[in-house]
Amino acid sequence: MQKLLDSLGPVCAIIGAQWGDEGKGKIVDVLAAHYDVIARACGGANAGHTIVVGGKKHVFHLLPAGSLHEGKPVLLGAGMVIHLPTLLEEIHTLEAAGISIRDRLGIMRSAHILLNYHKQIDGAIEEGRGSKKIGTTKRGIGPAYMDKAARTGLRMDALLLSEDELRSEIAHRAGAVERMYGISVSVDEELSCLLEAKEQLHECLTTMDVIYEFLYTKKSSILIEGAQAALLDIDHGTYPYVTSSSTTAAGALQGLGLPPKALTSCIGVAKAYCTRVGEGTFPTEEKGERGDRLRERGGEYGATTGRPRRCGWLHIPSLNYASLLNGFSCWCITKLDVLDEEPEIPVGLTQDAKGNTPYENFPGWKSKTAGIHSYTDLPENARKFIRSIEERTHIPVNFIGTGPNREDLIVRE
Ligand code: GDP
Ligand code: IMO
Ligand code: MG
Repeated sequence: MQKLLDSLGPVCAIIGAQWGDEGKGKIVDVLAAHYDVIARACGGANAGHTIVVGGKKHVFHLLPAGSLHEGKPVLLGAGMVIHLPTLLEEIHTLEAAGISIRDRLGIMRSAHILLNYHKQIDGAIEEGRGSKKIGTTKRGIGPAYMDKAARTGLRMDALLLSEDELRSEIAHRAGAVERMYGISVSVDEELSCLLEAKEQLHECLTTMDVIYEFLYTKKSSILIEGAQAALLDIDHGTYPYVTSSSTTAAGALQGLGLPPKALTSCIGVAKAYCTRVGEGTFPTEEKGERGDRLRERGGEYGATTGRPRRCGWLHIPSLNYASLLNGFSCWCITKLDVLDEEPEIPVGLTQDAKGNTPYENFPGWKSKTAGIHSYTDLPENARKFIRSIEERTHIPVNFIGTGPNREDLIVRE
């Protein structure tokens, strides 16, 4: 592993190459052991990153999945929209498991606060769209970024205000929201969430200097956990069926205030097949019984909303597009084991002008790859499948997931 880590260099971003839920959390958790600082850059609690350690499942929405590694500094970047009650709940869950986090958590003061009413607005907008709904996570993401772009948002440094000042900040926003969306906002409830967060988190607030201190003074290595994925990017994804943040490596750097040249590598994470939650195009979607089988074997139900994920096959043009956007150094191909029983594995190769996708059908391996740690132990057909991804994307597959546990991973130097 050391040779591979050396080649990745000190600042590495983990970026989803499909429509999210590729298994970014798991690879972040594994690699976090080898980095000094773990950072999340963009998005909010629309993310759901599940990891399994010692048979115990942990789900992260705002804290990076690497947070289980005790003693490592954790940063929440300026590009994030943070729902404070959700963050506190996550912190308390970790603390209840005996893992202290607040003493090593830095939250950039310029990150935006996602208020409860952002969630209400998200619900109202989705309802208003009717059959054209996006299928959002209803976590308030769009409305929080709307406020940010309109320069009406409340940032984390608001937690330094007095109670009276905070009440007035909320009250005038609540009035505008009620007039615009016809929903009723509880100023008292918003205020009490902010005061609770102020009490519990004010010591975690940090200026941007912290990241430069890590990078230039302490020469720390930094692992950046991407959230969402390339095809959900607000600019480059399948608009309007996207999220509202920049989900690429460039977006992650921007969210943390890092200069582009700081990034030394970027790992593209893709499932050995493909899933999507919410609406929007999905050229290789498998709606029938085979799709149901992928869903059941892969446990494809959203970690954030519990929604069944739409399932289908790998789509090479999408991987190549994600790779162009992000400049992947290598792939982490996850959930290979989910294909263990498939007699035949289709892979979408190209897409013609009419949107039709020709496939290559790989013979399945019909044997257990679950839990395999070494590439040479994989059945020949599984290796052919991996080699084909490398040949068709011109990017090496250095990590292969063979199960949900921390240990279920093949690392290829
Ligand atoms: P993320 O949002 O990209 O972090 O991915 P999620 O955590 O939402 O979804 C990935 C799911 O697959 C989680 O339940 C993981 O525990 C699980 N998982 C990750 N890697 C593997 C793998 O290689 N094999 C299997 N069977 N499950 C995996
Ligand atoms: P992780 O980090 C999968 C999808 C939603 C919806 C669209 C917009 O776990 O991979 P939003 O609530 O962001 O306004 O929803 O984006 N979406 C995700 N899908 N994984 C995610 O995060 C997602 N975050 C947002 O399902 O289609
Ligand atoms: Mg997820």
